[in-house]
Amino acid sequence: MNNTQSERSPYSIWSRRRMLTTLGTGIAMTGFGPLILPGGASPNAQIRHAVIGSGRQGRSHCKQFSGIGPDCRVVAICDVDPDQRRLALEVLPRDFPVEEQEDYRRILDNPAIHTISIATPDHWHTKIAVEAILAGKHVYVEKPCCHNIFEGNLLVRAANKYGKCVQHGTQNRSSESVRNAIQFLRDGKLGKVRMAKAINHQLREPIGRAPESDPPPGVNYDLWLGPAPKVAFTRNRWHYNWHWFWDYGTGDMGNDGIHQVDIARWGLGVGLPDTVTAAGGQLFYNDDHETPDTQVVTLEYEHCYLLYEMRLWTDYPLEGHDNGVVFYGDLGKLDIGRKGCFVTLIDKQPEQISGQDASHARNFIDAVIADDPSKLTAPISEGYISAILCHLGNIGTRVKQRLLFDKERLQFPQSDDANRLCSRDYRDGYQLPAL
Ligand SMILES: NC(=O)c1ccc[n+]([C@@H]2O[C@H](COP(=O)([O-])OP(=O)(O)OC[C@H]3O[C@@H](n4cnc5c(N)ncnc54)[C@H](O)[C@@H]3O)[C@@H](O)[C@H]2O)c1
Repeated sequence: MNNTQSERSPYSIWSRRRMLTTLGTGIAMTGFGPLILPGGASPNAQIRHAVIGSGRQGRSHCKQFSGIGPDCRVVAICDVDPDQRRLALEVLPRDFPVEEQEDYRRILDNPAIHTISIATPDHWHTKIAVEAILAGKHVYVEKPCCHNIFEGNLLVRAANKYGKCVQHGTQNRSSESVRNAIQFLRDGKLGKVRMAKAINHQLREPIGRAPESDPPPGVNYDLWLGPAPKVAFTRNRWHYNWHWFWDYGTGDMGNDGIHQVDIARWGLGVGLPDTVTAAGGQLFYNDDHETPDTQVVTLEYEHCYLLYEMRLWTDYPLEGHDNGVVFYGDLGKLDIGRKGCFVTLIDKQPEQISGQDASHARNFIDAVIADDPSKLTAPISEGYISAILCHLGNIGTRVKQRLLFDKERLQFPQSDDANRLCSRDYRDGYQLPAL
């Protein structure tokens, strides 16, 4: 997709020409003083980036985007929790002012900000991303880009309609060794591959039971809840542990599992499946968790299967890795995991496929500077499919039946229960924007 095919947002006050002019001056239009590059060099381009959600991953965004080169500066951070904002400010360079906001809409209102990254809980991802696109921003959105199937479709339509760069936070797509391993499959060197197994295998400790309490002082808890139902605060429905509640998170399939599912799907060269069969539950936890600790999912395609296995109670290496993917071909197998990428051909010793580490954030900024979404390594048009596979796995697990999936309508022709989980009720004032 290029910009000649896409529309500009009606809300956008950034035309490409105006953006580049401002980038070239190095002077922010509002809100910031001039940004001086190291050595006083005149920049050709200087992207002003904001991080929305400054928890664990948001602080990693702060480090990544402020460390990728002089053409990108983190000029604003946003979080509903003042403590999280303070922690984010501590990891940022101190050589220019950084705007601090509680409400992400103030970030989207600011025309001096070109790009945003979203590292909030999952239930906010699509809403903020689509509103940002409508405000003329390019977006780096953490995985999973959507909290349900309807949202994923909305986000990809918004990105296409307005021609924005929208990068999905599945950063393995920028890893050269993984790219080389996928190319190995594409070149047919493993023969025909009929199955890939995505393994999410690790120890995640129980979270116990947390009583209702007041939110921490200064926190805007209502804004944290956003589209989700209004419920009393508990420490477990809060930073990080929200992953394990369906109102905010997507379980560990949408959390860590999505990285393996994305690589498996990429290597198999497939999109949405014809059916999903899933089972899962809590064989280990006896606490506030709603999401499973054990899960098996089979996604069926015309010529292959994608399997997902999850055990959150095993703290030992298994099948060569903890989180990883195995591709099974006629000529041997390929492992892609945290230890690297290894090919084992029949009767041969494993051989490593290597490559340089590359920055996913850098790839995003390069695509933005080129104003060319086709340069993204994890464009949302790919990312949302992998996110949907995780939703399919979770829906199958929750409704406990083999589900046919209509890939055109993004619905289940035979299950109303499953269709109900394709979207959610949005709390008043927090509905999704229309396109
Ligand atoms: N790509 C990766 O490898 C990777 C790694 C870790 C986390 N993540 C993703 O990053 C996201 C954040 O995860 P985390 O572990 O940092 O969670 P976290 O709970 O530590 O941080 C989330 C932050 O978002 C803030 N927040 C909530 N609603 C907000 C709103 N409306 N506006 C602004 N801030 C808001 C919270 O106060 C919190 O500080 C998740 O979606 C997660 O899946 C990705």
